[in-house]
Amino acid sequence: MSEQEKKIKSLEELGISSTILKKLQEVGITTIEALAAANPYELSQNLAIPLPTLQKLVAQARAALGLGFKTALELKKERASLPKITTGSRNLDSLLGGGVEVKTVTEFFGEFGSGKTQLCHQLAVNVQLPPEKGGLGKKAVYIDTEGTFRWERIEAMARGVGLEPDKVMENIFYVRAINSDHQMAVVEELKDLIPKENIGLVVVDSVTGHFRAEYPGRENLAARQQKLNRHLHQLISLAELYNVAVVVTNQVMARPDVFYGDPTMPIGGHVLHHAPGIRVQLKKSRGNRRIARIVDAPHLPESEAVFVITDVGIRDPE
Ligand code: GTP
Ligand code: MG
Repeated sequence: MSEQEKKIKSLEELGISSTILKKLQEVGITTIEALAAANPYELSQNLAIPLPTLQKLVAQARAALGLGFKTALELKKERASLPKITTGSRNLDSLLGGGVEVKTVTEFFGEFGSGKTQLCHQLAVNVQLPPEKGGLGKKAVYIDTEGTFRWERIEAMARGVGLEPDKVMENIFYVRAINSDHQMAVVEELKDLIPKENIGLVVVDSVTGHFRAEYPGRENLAARQQKLNRHLHQLISLAELYNVAVVVTNQVMARPDVFYGDPTMPIGGHVLHHAPGIRVQLKKSRGNRRIARIVDAPHLPESEAVFVITDVGIRDPE
């Protein structure tokens, strides 16, 4: 991607005529990202714009976002330079290769009380830190499907990192998703909210809860998996196109390995297995200690990290 391409931030800068711009707006295409994700054939039919014009525009939008071919070396440099959000624990950060990465879906899975929700709270705070302190200097979206979000924890964690609590809470856009359809609709809405509000992190806690409740049992497994795959695809393209970190949680049984093979068990290990991203297993240990382990990530070392959950948030053990 050349310097010049990088600078293009809006549709206007692509030199689109106002007539076409208006037609695109009518179908909700108001950003470079939305245009890059559009299908020129479909648009051409719906908007009565010549196909070659749209193909050119979509290609320009994709080029502006760096979505064309790149060399492996460019890819390596790009991955290495991706900003990361600190978890509050150096141990956990280094396990993750520096922290929770943008353009990536990170899944925290583990049994109840393993610290998934606490980590989500901490990241919603830490994303707001300036880059030199391990944040992105950006805001957070928190999609809560289980009603376990607590502003009191945000307040305490904000104090813990020396940020002004009210300011931090003002920068977290919270939504309680009431069912899986709502959860998916909310993610669609983020395409407008992310650029408008300078969002750097999207949390979905938990990503699987509604789907399990709505599609119980073996007979619904295929339908559930299909819909969940669509949701995950939504989240993956959100991360990649909109340059945000996506963090999802997934409750699993204490010993998933014991239940492998039985599809009726609520084992997240199966559910999200084929989605790209980083999967982190959390386990309870003595007292407030928790153990994190990376699963299925060939580029990261097979090791463990120990962190603690304290009154002021996620930290390294003393
Ligand atoms: P489920 O959503 O039930 O699957 O669990 P989870 O993995 O989301 O667990 P969560 O992150 O809610 O962790 C709960 C644990 O965090 C509790 O058991 C406490 O150990 C710890 N915790 C929560 N709030 C506080 C607090 O204010 N102070 C301290 N010191 N620990 C807390
Ligand atoms: Mg939780």
